[in-house]
Amino acid sequence: MNGIDPSTFDPLAYPIDRAWFERPDSIHGISHIRRVLIHAQAISAARDIDPDWFESLVLAAAWHDIGRTHDGWEPEHGPNSAAKVKALGLDRGVHPFILARTLFAIEWHSVADRHALDHALTMDPGHRPEVGTLLRVLWLLKDADGLDRVRINDLDPGQLRYEESLGFVERAGRLLLELP
Ligand SMILES: [Fe+2]
Repeated sequence: MNGIDPSTFDPLAYPIDRAWFERPDSIHGISHIRRVLIHAQAISAARDIDPDWFESLVLAAAWHDIGRTHDGWEPEHGPNSAAKVKALGLDRGVHPFILARTLFAIEWHSVADRHALDHALTMDPGHRPEVGTLLRVLWLLKDADGLDRVRINDLDPGQLRYEESLGFVERAGRLLLELP
């Protein structure tokens, strides 16, 4: 999949395949992904992010939990989800820069922010795509994912990274009722 246009993107119509998931009806399954896509689009629009970052973010939101095997503490599910993207061939045809941001975000979303920052500091400053863009897509994913922590009664606005994300906290609760 390639060429996602932020101005026409419809998170309700975006294809999410049950076969990607071990447990598609779990709290980390399809409806969670649908809500994370909606939050990701809202935060992106509020921050007016670049279209190619948006594409990276949509792919990351769609695939970030496909490596989960249970609903408990599973910090390895980030790297496992990234590996599953490749194993399933979902990355085929995606522009390498867009894919690099997507896989970075997926890989590092399942651990504390400081681990991603520590890792980013070890990367070549000349890395392409720029390290800063990798981190920004990661923070956007984590904020969109964090908003849907409302489903487990654990949404903490203090943990959100972007001021714009705070504007969607109330809507996160409503969205959970609309799209349970
Ligand atoms: Fe998630």
